[in-house]
Amino acid sequence: MEFCGGFLVGYLLFSCFAITCYGVTFSSLQRTLIVSASSPKGHVLKAGEDQLTIKWAFNQTFPFGTDSTYKTIKLNLCYAPISQKDRSWRKSVDDLNKDKTCQHKIVAKPYTPSNNSFTWTIETDVPTATYFVRVYALDEREIQVGYGQNTDATKVVDLFEIRAISGRHVSLDIASVCFSVFSVVSLAVFFYLEKRKGNVTDENGKS
Ligand SMILES: *[C@@H]1O[C@H](CO)[C@@H](O)[C@H](O)[C@H]1NC(C)=O
Ligand SMILES: *[C@@H]1O[C@H](CO)[C@@H](O)[C@H](O)[C@H]1NC(C)=O
Repeated sequence: MEFCGGFLVGYLLFSCFAITCYGVTFSSLQRTLIVSASSPKGHVLKAGEDQLTIKWAFNQTFPFGTDSTYKTIKLNLCYAPISQKDRSWRKSVDDLNKDKTCQHKIVAKPYTPSNNSFTWTIETDVPTATYFVRVYALDEREIQVGYGQNTDATKVVDLFEIRAISGRHVSLDIASVCFSVFSVVSLAVFFYLEKRKGNVTDENGKS
């Protein structure tokens, strides 16, 4: 019984260490991945419409470590410093559990050592801001063990400006007007028919 309790506590502590309590710091990670992001539309993109192609590969000339512990690769859209200014809810924190830089998940995929790419249609809920792409390599415990990003360390080059969907498209507006007119007309027709049916019943009732 005591052994079991001890085991349980040990297990809980270990899980805590492995999953929740153990926060990797960004500054401790090596930049082992080569990442690029590009779009045929250039560097100003529309949410919900334009596409971003992200490519990543392990830097073969990186002198330390290997990719042997890499299990999963996570692609994130991250706020550039210009879009973090005066916005504490986007703040960069070295403890990755608390970091708010990379709030928008693009995709998570199993790691493969070859050159990889993923084409992402920017999701409609991405707010207007300036961004870069960061890729994290995670080990089997889901802990970050390496990263790469499509910008330099100071996050200045190759940034993307994403514009949120503002207002609706003209075609959408026309469609919704048509739809409203259609529903008003069909409601009118429905009431007319109902009324007529009622009258017919009345007449039948009288006769
Ligand atoms: C790959 O790693 C080497 C050694 O750290 C570095 O000099 C080089 O800039 C890296 N390549 C890229 C494209 O990041
Ligand atoms: C990835 O692409 C680079 C540049 O084209 C090439 O040098 C490298 O060998 C490729 N790596 C793999 C694992 O295919």
